[in-house]
Amino acid sequence: MDLLLEVEKEIKQLSQDVTGCKKCDLWKTRKNPVVGNGSLNASVMFIGEAPGYHEDIQGIPFVGRAGKVFDELLQSIGLEKNEVYVCNTLKCRPPDNRNPFDSEIKACTPYLDRQITAIKPKVIGTLGNFATSYVLEKFGLQAEKIGKIHGKTFHIRNLLFESRIIPLYHPAAATYNPNMKSVLMDDFKAIALHL
Ligand code: URA
Ligand code: SF4
Repeated sequence: MDLLLEVEKEIKQLSQDVTGCKKCDLWKTRKNPVVGNGSLNASVMFIGEAPGYHEDIQGIPFVGRAGKVFDELLQSIGLEKNEVYVCNTLKCRPPDNRNPFDSEIKACTPYLDRQITAIKPKVIGTLGNFATSYVLEKFGLQAEKIGKIHGKTFHIRNLLFESRIIPLYHPAAATYNPNMKSVLMDDFKAIALHL
């Protein structure tokens, strides 16, 4: 079968699985699951933390305040949201945007693993501490706090694919710290190097 069709089929199945998922308690309080959005053919995949208020209402990642900053960052390296793939570590919104629990990350990340395996991005931008530690540790690398490793490039390779992981500050950080935007812009340039 055509490779892209296979990816489409898997992501559609994944979407159904997430919609019916009750593996942690977050399904009880969410309005909509936020599976992921963008191109299934994308070279770049961004992974955030979890849906916030607006994402929960619309069922789409990064459509709120942090999403506006994220769009600007993408544009700064000549990318549009519809040519990358965007998703989160957790697919359902934690109440009051509290941090994810370890148990929730454990329950939910098999979905993220399936997204990474299906899309096989050349570059993975992890946004914030939660996505960064999960993804680096998944590939057997040691995660450090985002303040220490943001903008670095980690080359990973396994039987299925080869990729670069680039830890980034979460765009929400730039909504309360104006200096953060220029740091993020600088770090985003590392992504463009691998396209
Ligand atoms: N913050 C995230 O981590 N993800 C979103 O989708 C929105 C805000
Ligand atoms: Fe399932 Fe993930 Fe939602 Fe928990 S957050 S209910 S594991 S989809």
